[in-house]
Formats: sequence, structure tokens, C-alpha cells
Amino acid sequence: MTESERSKYIDGACEHFRALVTEQLDRAERMKERERTDFSKLDKIKIGVVDGDGIGPIIMSAARRVLGALLADEIKSGRVEMCDIEGLTIERRLSLGVSVPDDVMAAIKSCHVLLKGPTTTPKGTTMESANVTLRRELDLFANVRPVRIPSENVDWTFFRENTEGEYVLGSRGYDIPDTLAFDFKVTTDEGTRRIAKAAFDYAAANVKRHVAIVTKANIMKKTDAKFSAICHEVAKDYPSLELEDWYIDIMTANLVNKSIRSRFEVFVLPNLYGDIITDEAAEIGGGVGTAGSANIGDRYAMFEAIHGSAPRMVEEGIAEYANPTSILRACELMLSHIGFNDKAKKLSASLTKCCDVERRVAVTGNRDGATCADFAEYVAENI
Ligand code: IPM
Ligand code: MG
Repeated sequence: MTESERSKYIDGACEHFRALVTEQLDRAERMKERERTDFSKLDKIKIGVVDGDGIGPIIMSAARRVLGALLADEIKSGRVEMCDIEGLTIERRLSLGVSVPDDVMAAIKSCHVLLKGPTTTPKGTTMESANVTLRRELDLFANVRPVRIPSENVDWTFFRENTEGEYVLGSRGYDIPDTLAFDFKVTTDEGTRRIAKAAFDYAAANVKRHVAIVTKANIMKKTDAKFSAICHEVAKDYPSLELEDWYIDIMTANLVNKSIRSRFEVFVLPNLYGDIITDEAAEIGGGVGTAGSANIGDRYAMFEAIHGSAPRMVEEGIAEYANPTSILRACELMLSHIGFNDKAKKLSASLTKCCDVERRVAVTGNRDGATCADFAEYVAENI
């Protein structure tokens, strides 16, 4: 590289970084304005429903069937409205060149909560994942992912920070071709405070004592060290909780260690570690087809399956055999978020009966198992 090329890249990087710092300072400032939706005060709760791609439309029709049974009275009386939102397909996103088209975003923002089918992230394009866009635009800062193994007394709830860390500038790194590349990770005080509070409030409300803060603060000395320090600061308001710091590598090992894993209860962790470890946890808890995921913000919330759109199942012609358990678990999380705890419990009990106890209709994800629609019928009948 010539001297002049070198200085061009260095100047370019400084300019790029200046813009990022400016923007992130503005984001940190905006985060202080908190305005929460109180579902108990709403005359009507609008639930947006987006099908997504791949197996999305199939598992979402299972979700519609089961929610229709659970919320029949509320839908009839007008207390709940289910609003189908079209147009968030991979074909449309690619043709418009945007991760979430404006009309879809506007329709989503006109609802209180969103139930979302999996959306394919196009490979080989610079387009952002729809999930990342939605989490950022709706400021869904807490990704809550419960995993239970009743037979082992495992009851884990992960609070993954969902809007910053490695994700916030994930599409905005700096590349010096054929030489090197940078990505950026951003952790804010307010962003950490709010996820810590969410995790601790959950622990306190659910009589959990043990909270594990999971970072890699021995290496990420600015961002993760801040994350841990702020969690400890926030925890001063929760004297009954027992906090432990763990590094992500050993925690990943702990989860497969049957002799100690049941002692963990609540986990709070930065975005990327949370992404990775919740797939591991879901797999331990029965597979990524079985765990639900809640993305919670002050104003909006989005509920989805933990898995992706499974294009392979569509290519192989077995999409109708997809397992809807993960999106049904997400429905359970949504019902309790909007204040229908009794309905959430009913759905949970039916899922436990259908998946773990009776198993009269079992999906395998293949032709040897039941179809998604038959399984949804089975769950609806057991409500
Ligand atoms: C998840 C997914 C997403 C993530 C993808 C689809 C962007 O893996 O919800 O865990 O990385 O957060
Ligand atoms: Mg993931």
C-alpha cells in the first residue's frame, strides 16, 4: 500500500468513527426517555401478525388457530384485535432493497404487540436482517428466552440485551480491502441499566434468587467490564438476589454439565453471547423448534420462534411437517406480556401435555411425524 493510500484509509476510518460516535451518543441520550405501554389501561389490544418466509406461513397458521381458541371471547368483544400484516417477505424485501418496507413498519407500529414468523436474512447482500431492524426501530431491548427441563429441575430464563453490543453497528464496520477489517461493539450505561432492571425485576417477581451475569470482561475490557459493573450497581436495589459473574466460555460448558446446570436461574448478558448461548440452551431443552422468544421494549413487544425460516424444509417439500412449538411458546409469552396470565398458563399446560407427557400427536419435522396443522389442532383441543 502506498503512503497516500494509507493516509486515505486512516482519514476515512476517523471520519467513519466520528459519525458513529455522534450517532451513538444521540442514541444513548434518547434512551433516557422511557414511556411504557400499560396493557391493562387499553380498551383494545392490537396484535399484529406477520407470516414471514419459508415455514413462517405454516407455523403462523398454527399460532392463529391456537390463539383463536384462547382469545375467542376477547376477539368477539373487541378487547383484542388480530391484524394481519402482509408484505414482509424475502421477495418483496429484496425487490425493494430494504429489510423492512415502510408500509410494513407503519402497520407494525399501529399495533401494540407483534407476533412474527421467521424472516430469511439474505446471504451475500448487505441488507440487514429484518429482526435486527425491528428490534432497533421498536427499541425492543430485552430478548427474553425461557428454557425448561422439568425432569431435571432446570428452569432458565435468559435476558439478552437486544439492541446494542455487537449488533448495533453490525452492518457498519470499516473495511480496508485485502488488508483488514473492523467491527464495532457498543455498550451504553442506560442500555445496560435497563436490561439489568428487566432481569432483576423478573427474578424478584418470580422468586428466583440466582442471577448470572455472563460476559467476557477479561477480554472485552471496556464494553463487558461496563456491563458487569452496571449490573452490580443496579443490583443494589435488589438485596435478595445473589449475583455471580461468569465468563461466556465457561458458562457454555456449564450448561452441558448436568451436575450443576439446574442451579442457574436467571441470566443477563450482552447481545451476541445471548444469541449464541440461547440456541445452545434451547437445544438442551428439547431443540430449537421448542423454545419461544420475546423481544420486549417499553412501548412495543415482538414475539417469535427462536429458530429461522428453514428454507431447506421448503425445498424438500416437507414444510407442512414443521414443528410449531416454538411459535406457540412465543404466543404463551405474548399472552402473559399483555396481561392474560391465565390464558398463558392454559397454553403452557396444553403444550406440556402435548409435547412432554401424552404425545398422542407428535411432530418430528419430517414425513414420519404429524403435520403442523394436526399438532395445532391437538394443542387447541387440550386448552
Ligand atoms: C435470533 C436470531 C437473530 C439474531 C438473527 C436472525 C438476526 O439468530 O433471534 O437469535 O442473531 O439475533
Ligand atoms: Mg440466534
